Amino acid sequence: MLFVTSNPGKAREAEEILGEDVERVDYDYAEIQSDSLAEIATEGVRDAYEELGEACFVDDSGMFVEGVGGFPGPYSSYVYSTLGIDGVLNALDGIDDRSARFDCVVAYHDGDEVRTFEGTVAGRVTREQRGDGGFGYDPIFEVAEDEEARTFAEMPPDEKNEVSHRRRAFEAFADWYQQG
Ligand code: IMP
Repeated sequence: MLFVTSNPGKAREAEEILGEDVERVDYDYAEIQSDSLAEIATEGVRDAYEELGEACFVDDSGMFVEGVGGFPGPYSSYVYSTLGIDGVLNALDGIDDRSARFDCVVAYHDGDEVRTFEGTVAGRVTREQRGDGGFGYDPIFEVAEDEEARTFAEMPPDEKNEVSHRRRAFEAFADWYQQG
């Protein structure tokens, strides 16, 4: 089974979470515009399956900030590559309600149909970057359930992978897959 992603950080985390080798395919599947991560992931894995002709899965993630109506949400990737982390912090400068969540949807295509699995983690957006682990928004996403209020980037990888949105989505996927 193939994990279709151009992001090596995601593939590394998937391997650590699933505890086995994951074959990464660096194919840039089509990302439709939608307010729903599940729809984006579903269309993405359809495109990937058409290209590869083999069972495969994709993961689509986004950070949703309460005080700005869920921005950047499904547009997290575009916002990250255009504004960057400092640009996001600037855009949120006057925002007091910084509570946020990170969502992950894994979409799996087995050749017949697509199934989706969701995971979420609560947190808040910091006012400055902290830590140098992980990738993407990790330096500004502080994890609500962490007693030390660390960002994902301040946690060792195994601790991020214990509580992350990706962990929860992949666990749901693995539970379903092992039953089948
Ligand atoms: P996508 O799932 O590749 O569309 O990711 C959306 C955006 O969120 C990208 O900018 C990723 O770098 C970022 N992202 C995805 N997963 C994580 C994560 O676990 N931590 C921090 N940023 C992430």
